[in-house]
Amino acid sequence: MDMHAQLDTFFAAQEKKSLLRFLTCGSVDDGKSTLIGRLLYDTQMLFEDQVAALESDSRKHGASGHDLDFTLLMDGLEAEREQGITIDVAYRFFTTTKRKFIVADSPGHEQFTRNMVTGASTAQLAIVLVDARRGLLPQTHRHSLIASLLGIRHVVLAVNKIDLVDYSERIFSGIAADYRSLAKELGFATITPIPTSARYGDNVAKRSRHMEWYSGPALLQHLETIDVVKDTEDQPFRFAIQYVNRPSADFRGLAGTVSSGSICEGSSVVVAKSGRPSRIKRIIGPRGELVCAQEGQSVTLLLDDDVEASRGNMLVAPGTPPHLADQFAANLVWFSEQPLLLGRSFLLRTETDESPATITDLKYRININNFAQEAAKSLAINEVGVVNVSTQTPIAFDTFQDNRATGSFILINRITNATVAAGMIQHPLRRAENIHWQELHVTKASRARLKAQRAAVLWFTGLSGSGKSTIANLVEKKLNAEGRHTYLLDGDNVRHGLNRDLGFTDQDRVENIRRLAEVAKLMADAGLLVLVSAISPFEAERRTARELLGDGEFVEIFVDTPFEECVRRDPKGLYAKAFRGEIKNFTGVDSPYEVPGAPDIHLKSEGRGASDLAIDVEDWLRERCYC
Ligand code: ADX
Repeated sequence: MDMHAQLDTFFAAQEKKSLLRFLTCGSVDDGKSTLIGRLLYDTQMLFEDQVAALESDSRKHGASGHDLDFTLLMDGLEAEREQGITIDVAYRFFTTTKRKFIVADSPGHEQFTRNMVTGASTAQLAIVLVDARRGLLPQTHRHSLIASLLGIRHVVLAVNKIDLVDYSERIFSGIAADYRSLAKELGFATITPIPTSARYGDNVAKRSRHMEWYSGPALLQHLETIDVVKDTEDQPFRFAIQYVNRPSADFRGLAGTVSSGSICEGSSVVVAKSGRPSRIKRIIGPRGELVCAQEGQSVTLLLDDDVEASRGNMLVAPGTPPHLADQFAANLVWFSEQPLLLGRSFLLRTETDESPATITDLKYRININNFAQEAAKSLAINEVGVVNVSTQTPIAFDTFQDNRATGSFILINRITNATVAAGMIQHPLRRAENIHWQELHVTKASRARLKAQRAAVLWFTGLSGSGKSTIANLVEKKLNAEGRHTYLLDGDNVRHGLNRDLGFTDQDRVENIRRLAEVAKLMADAGLLVLVSAISPFEAERRTARELLGDGEFVEIFVDTPFEECVRRDPKGLYAKAFRGEIKNFTGVDSPYEVPGAPDIHLKSEGRGASDLAIDVEDWLRERCYC
């Protein structure tokens, strides 16, 4: 055989083997890296130079005497990875004669939960490592809960470092029993406890000679034989459209990935969001025309007719449509250092679609120790809860239980672009299905026209005592004198009525601004020129307020008075109280103010009087024909 033929035979054999995706989790030092290193070494998946380096490094720096120290190997691979700073999870590939494996290797300790979720999202099995000397730890609970929420159905409990407890059967059985009782409610299909010593290879690639009492399989043997295929069989067809490929007028292909199920030429499909039916005319893969395509394949689909379907939509099997809703309940794993704030706008991204979204309700938090449902106001880093989510536009989805790919989402901080949470959808909220948008015939523009003005929101933001309300008052007085229809929504005043239930925690301020913004939007809809005066300390909520309004209808006015000057003025004596510790969470003292990055009007107030500054605003408005 020539080399090409040999390679073809090799790849053909590889392709026939089934693939198992798994991940390892456990506390720091339980031996995650050592176990992966050991598996790669024992299955001869390392290059000779890596092995040589490992041997010499182990002699020099290793913690294992003359034995190989696999943590050095994984550290080396990690250093490799650190050069590409965007990779959070590395996928290591190895293969045996029976199966191919992809193990998600997630580095970093503090961000482990985030990385674990990334790695686990496609995994079929989790190896939960426990140090035989320490038994189950809080992390064991947390990672097992997350593995279960992420749809992992098979767990290997690797009771590791068994050599350090004299290969004790009693200790192993005790930990295995503890784990079974812990995992009772987590719904795993299989739990397989295996006593291992990753460092010495006991029960990793082959059965150990040190534990006659153990009759189960070695880890690798279990990984090679466990039956996971049927877990994802029989799922209905779902195709996430990534883009429309239209190189010429007579070719219109929908490029994307088969998220689940399979499709063949001639199959009937439905566009998820519109419910419009169509039929597959051609399937084009990376190497040409295909008859069928299945889960995981990236293909371009050509339809029989020109039915409308674009990015963010799905093609699905007829008869099993996904849900289409803008409100749903979900499990949420929170990753961010900053706690969850209800009502804040995030970017929600599913495999197919994205939309601004807020968490409207935290129904409960899950206690990591006993998985009990606890009342809570927020989720802190690594905590898990059940929430209601509201998206700005309806999205098409399945429940996570029905489909891991189309039932999950992430939340992204819209200012920093950091991923702050991962979610698994439980069910759409019925109430959303029964509320429709009532079209009104009289529009904002026609209401404003009667008043001979342009509707807009003038949003004054700045520290307490910066002069917002004084300036806003002067501007309103002038507008009113000129015959404009206005209203001034002042933070202090609205807190006497509509917002009297709110205090000054971050959460309450988010809600305060959300309500102010919604009311301002309604008033602008009524054709008014609305002035809002509120500290509104967070960029995220000011931006959300802007997004509620049309282009040019939101004018952000930053009243920029230095903190020291506000303290000197202290019109209500509040700074003095805050410094004496009598008021908590006072803006600028022990609560943040995020300076506007690009306000429409920047009023630098130092050395200038309020009437002067009000004239600046009036001039700005006049130049742009707001009045
Ligand atoms: S915001 O942060 O939610 O936008 P808002 O503008 O409504 O605040 O209310 C701020 C006003 O409440 C201040 O002008 C001040 O008079 C009063 N106040 C009372 N406690 C605080 C506090 N802890 N921080 C800031 N302002 C406070």
